[in-house]
Amino acid sequence: MLTNKKIILAVTGSIAAYKTPELVRQLVKQGAEVQVLMTPAAADFVSPLALSTVSKKPVFNSVSNNDQWHNHVHLGRWADVLLIAPCSANTLAKMANGLCDNMVQAVYLSATCPVLIAPAMDEDMWLHPATEANVKKVAAYGNQIIAPEHGELASGIIGAGRMADPEHIVQFIADFFKKKDTPPAPSKFKKALITAGPTYEKLDPVRFIGNYSSGKMGIALAKTLAEQGVAVTLVLGPTKEEVLLPNITLLRVESAQEMFDQCNAVFEDIDLVIMSAAVADFRPATQAKEKIKKTDGAEHITIELVKNPDILATLGKKKTHQVLVGFALETNNELAHAQAKLDKKNADFIVLNSLNDKGAGFGTDTNKVTIISHNNQPYEVPLQSKTAIALAIINYISNA
Ligand code: CTP
Repeated sequence: MLTNKKIILAVTGSIAAYKTPELVRQLVKQGAEVQVLMTPAAADFVSPLALSTVSKKPVFNSVSNNDQWHNHVHLGRWADVLLIAPCSANTLAKMANGLCDNMVQAVYLSATCPVLIAPAMDEDMWLHPATEANVKKVAAYGNQIIAPEHGELASGIIGAGRMADPEHIVQFIADFFKKKDTPPAPSKFKKALITAGPTYEKLDPVRFIGNYSSGKMGIALAKTLAEQGVAVTLVLGPTKEEVLLPNITLLRVESAQEMFDQCNAVFEDIDLVIMSAAVADFRPATQAKEKIKKTDGAEHITIELVKNPDILATLGKKKTHQVLVGFALETNNELAHAQAKLDKKNADFIVLNSLNDKGAGFGTDTNKVTIISHNNQPYEVPLQSKTAIALAIINYISNA
């Protein structure tokens, strides 16, 4: 996957640095040549000896070593990619402002190669407006952010800010080179609307009815289209996933009604609509203003649900020039159910997910789908990463 790729891995002062020997091992295993750099603070979390052993190269942690100068300009030109992982809040702030007080900053500022950044910090630091502004700044310079993940943090808090898993970073780099070596053809679509993630239907101020959708498939579709030059509006239900691409307009919503309103507001101007959201079909008939209390002696309660608007079917009725793509998650008689949705919702394509397929559906990083349309035989896309599935779906609907 990464044969002969020259990668500089710059490690900075974050507890996630302890994962970097494993990251180097995986990159080397994929065929990459890895040169490790460290900030002085990184050495508090991982030993230079461990990193030089797995990378089979000396590690540079200062611009000079006694009388020997490490040529940071040469290093920045040597690499095919500079990966900063983990990137601490401090390094991120320095990168946003062009500071140069260590080897990592010197190489970053003189690098002519693309730069990938995998931030890692505690949730409160990640959510601070200063960090948010710094992320936007470094992304605007053309650097790519490998979004941090949700999970257990050094503080013990479960939240956002954890460095992406080494496996996910390696996959990101492999996808990055794949795209770089075969640049995407410009899309025939100009403006796309995508829905993704679950919807939460409120019962009272602290409870809701929801589902396990992560939004990963819709986010992958949004990224793929944005990379092809399409202006994407992504209407995203509640999910922990981060979307950090400047060319995607992200509208975060909670309920089906909010998703419906946002989609209707932009629909006219759009030429491609992909509805991958797992929209709740029903919502509680009333939303209690105060927390619902258990009544002493009551062994069961009944919640009355009312139908939510069907966003896809509504847009299907309104559609003029738009290409409309729906998703269907089925457990039995999959093809027949998907075919029925195609007709009922006046869609042009239905992307069918079967819960019977291992590695497909909610929460996973992989998927396997079948694309149903009016005039063609069902088209099967085999199990692969959601990024690769997104590209296959978009290629198919663009050429059908
Ligand atoms: N959808 C929608 N609005 C809803 C329900 C679903 O836009 N209120 C969209 C989904 O985003 C998806 C497609 O319709 O693209 C199919 O959704 P699904 O829930 O599988 O189908 P339903 O029509 O709700 O049928 P059922 O739940 O009976 O399978």
